[in-house]
Amino acid sequence: VSDVTNQNVNEALLNEVLASFDDSRNSRLVEILRSAVKHLHAFVEETNLTRDEWMTGIDFLTDTGKKSINSRQEFILLSDTLGVSMLVELVNQKSTVNATDPTVLGPFYIPDSPMMEMNSFIGSDDEGADPLTVTGIVQSTNGDLLGDAIIEVWQVAPNGLYDVQDVDVDAPNYRARFQTCSDGRFSIRTSKPIDYQIPTDGPVGTMLTETGRSSWRPAHIHFRVSCPGHKTLVTHVFDASSRYLESDAVFGVMDSLKLEMSGDEASFDFVLDEE
Ligand code: BEZ
Ligand code: FE
Repeated sequence: VSDVTNQNVNEALLNEVLASFDDSRNSRLVEILRSAVKHLHAFVEETNLTRDEWMTGIDFLTDTGKKSINSRQEFILLSDTLGVSMLVELVNQKSTVNATDPTVLGPFYIPDSPMMEMNSFIGSDDEGADPLTVTGIVQSTNGDLLGDAIIEVWQVAPNGLYDVQDVDVDAPNYRARFQTCSDGRFSIRTSKPIDYQIPTDGPVGTMLTETGRSSWRPAHIHFRVSCPGHKTLVTHVFDASSRYLESDAVFGVMDSLKLEMSGDEASFDFVLDEE
């Protein structure tokens, strides 16, 4: 069989799969599935994928599913380490030029974290870490100060673990929610974040090791800022002095999100797009 014939057979197969969605009434779902099928077929052809290699891929995805529980989402980690999570943020990028840049949510976000009074300390123990107070304003791209914004904040504890990763911690730690003051201001007391490694004890860790990749993330604090009438912002602020800013394991660093944290106070304003 010539290559040309093979090509025709492959193309006929692809077209048959694409046409199999013709009767669906969900046009957006069909658009997404057809695109995924096209790219998957092209990937198999481009790499001349062997049966064993495809089975290895299926086993890898199966292990990724088995490793996932509520507090450990290995699929998000996979999406993050392949740059897909960041790309989803970028293609959904803010529409207004002065809105705060977004970055990845990561696997350690938990909704409904404890509501705290302004200027509360968000950890239960500082373990001798350097204190840091983050202050700022939440405002709209039109300049309005947003007094009814909710700021959700989470970060690793000084031991390099998120509360949900730490078997010795069974309550929210370094994780809280605040409502901005009527003038849009906020003040949050925490410990200086540190560089840490993403979880490497699952299939994603194996992928990183097999390919000689780093598992480090530059020190950062996560924020999710929401306010009626505005698009919810998911972002981090990064310690501008981290040595891992250029080699983030999940490709999440943006220049506009770097913040000098060498003192015990740092200021960062959040600007939300109108809905
Ligand atoms: C995080 O920053 O919490 C995170 C993001 C992506 C993968 C792992 C952790
Ligand atoms: Fe993080």
